[in-house]
Amino acid sequence: MAERVTGDTKPGAPESERPQGDPQRWLVLGGGYCGMRLVDRLLDLGHAVVVTHRASTNRPAIHSSAAPVAPDASSPRSRPRLQVVAFDSGQGIDPDLSALGPFTAVLSTIPPGDDGVDPVLDRLGDALRQEGSPWVGYLSTSGVYGDLQGGWADESLPPRSLVPRSRRRIDCEAAWRASGLAPLILRLPGIYGPGRSPFSRLDQGRGRLIHKPGQVFSRVHVDDVVGAVLWCQRHGYRDTAVNVCDALPCPGSELLGLAARLLDCPLPPCERYRDAKATMGPMARSFWLENRRVSNRRLLSWGYVLCYPTYREGLVATLAEERGGRFNPTHHRADGLLAG
Ligand SMILES: NC(=O)c1ccc[n+]([C@@H]2O[C@H](COP(=O)([O-])OP(=O)(O)OC[C@H]3O[C@@H](n4cnc5c(N)ncnc54)[C@H](OP(=O)(O)O)[C@@H]3O)[C@@H](O)[C@H]2O)c1
Repeated sequence: MAERVTGDTKPGAPESERPQGDPQRWLVLGGGYCGMRLVDRLLDLGHAVVVTHRASTNRPAIHSSAAPVAPDASSPRSRPRLQVVAFDSGQGIDPDLSALGPFTAVLSTIPPGDDGVDPVLDRLGDALRQEGSPWVGYLSTSGVYGDLQGGWADESLPPRSLVPRSRRRIDCEAAWRASGLAPLILRLPGIYGPGRSPFSRLDQGRGRLIHKPGQVFSRVHVDDVVGAVLWCQRHGYRDTAVNVCDALPCPGSELLGLAARLLDCPLPPCERYRDAKATMGPMARSFWLENRRVSNRRLLSWGYVLCYPTYREGLVATLAEERGGRFNPTHHRADGLLAG
């Protein structure tokens, strides 16, 4: 059951108007696209953060132009506010959480391993259980709902996808639920934002306009992933699942149409899905096999106000950030898929 701790804040008020409270210490497992966007926000809020990357990732390059790493004089142990540590389940490299904690909150952004095992619970589950009771969040996917032939997916629906990648995710969600950590499972559709947008594909002539009758996708701007994590942690929501998505599931062609208009460039020729699918990779093809609209009703009922209620505001802001010089492509290096 969802537990909610009431605070002295007014639900629905913008983040910036809220008192920030005591500095917190966060553990962000996986500093990828969402992880690093969250890290930036946490540092802006004055919190301390430990973030993990795999051993093979070029951490100094990612962090040299990122957030401040200066020691925090107010911290009793005077530790740097941002600590970057290696965690790589494939290489057997684990961080020593007992030396890095205690943590106010922990967020895992790490996807299931190819074997369907959750890398975090497998390697760090015992250490996390020794951590007292930090708030714990787990980024999952709305892919667990499977194909609903365009119908709506809310959290009351049992996960039932038949796609192997989503079956692995369903197993990991079950492992998190059984972990004793009372996590909040945040189910995300396709994530977009600066560095993961249709703009560079259109610019480079790589955009594809594919039409499949009746097919829709849901999506979420990365800042709403971050915003929802912060909101749910602040209000103590946990031990349940919540969808985090915008309010306008629609065909991918609508999004591409607006992106082309914003860039003032022509749309690529329209391809029929049945012709185009032969040229798609297995991951992209699996997105098109399922058709659903993801409902954000529960998240909104918890008082969260979306930064980007539809892709329209989200794309305008994304282009402004990509072109406005604030966006750091090294930092947000991944190239994602716009599907959900
Ligand atoms: N992309 C989407 O549209 C989408 C949609 C729905 C759900 N999701 C899920 O939401 C979560 C966050 O998405 P994202 O796009 O931010 O992911 P991302 O950019 O791919 O980041 C994933 C993070 O996990 C780390 N990682 C991966 N395998 C690991 C392992 N075996 N051991 C230790 N660390 C490992 C990566 O380490 P490095 O920093 O070293 O690379 C990276 O920091 C993921 O679980 C993703 O599957 C994504």
